[in-house]
Amino acid sequence: MKGLYTSILSANFSNLESEIKLVESAGVQGIHCDIMDGHFVPNISYGPMVVSAVNKITELPLDVHLMIDNCDLFIKEFANAGADYISVHFENNIHLHRTISLIKSFNLKAGVAINPSTTITNIIEILPFVDYVLIMSVNPGYGGQKFIESSLEKIKALRRLIIKNKYNCHIQVDGGIDASNIRVIKNAGADMFVAGASIYRAKDKIKATKLILKEISKK
Ligand code: DX5
Ligand code: ZN
Repeated sequence: MKGLYTSILSANFSNLESEIKLVESAGVQGIHCDIMDGHFVPNISYGPMVVSAVNKITELPLDVHLMIDNCDLFIKEFANAGADYISVHFENNIHLHRTISLIKSFNLKAGVAINPSTTITNIIEILPFVDYVLIMSVNPGYGGQKFIESSLEKIKALRRLIIKNKYNCHIQVDGGIDASNIRVIKNAGADMFVAGASIYRAKDKIKATKLILKEISKK
């Protein structure tokens, strides 16, 4: 599960197939799909139909990030659409253990996501049950925002917690990641990285992707 996941939120949707093939050829580990409902977050993106179309385009794992209310109602649909991993937010899933169990019942990897203003102490009880924690390093809703620096301390603290308790849990970071900050994020303890605008808004998308991958591979 480790590696770079490209968020297609900033991709050109009239040319999604070639946009995905580009990052695939550059060597990314997966495609990150941002699902927004205009309710939990102030933006609407796309739903299972697009995920299903993406699934037909690529063999890469599909990492579905649900920024929607009533997640339980839609998890089966995203599983059928081809999701390999699904993350749901702590903030709006009050029966989190049930929701995580539901994701796992479809044999998918399950993640819990937390907003910049949410402390990791809130997710201590769910940590043994998740495959990854998604630390939002911007406020969810839009691509192309600036990385919030205080996320680094949060990543470090979570990594310490995971090591101390020997949890089998990855740390994914999402928002404002580019070639200039990815190493410091990795060194803080993250091992799954989401990048959208820094790839899809670059002039040369392959070059931008390869540069980020190169930075990740450095010590
Ligand atoms: C924001 C999304 C992110 C976003 C990342 O709500 O969860 O996945 O698309 O994009 P960048 O890399 O542009 O911040
Ligand atoms: Zn996301």
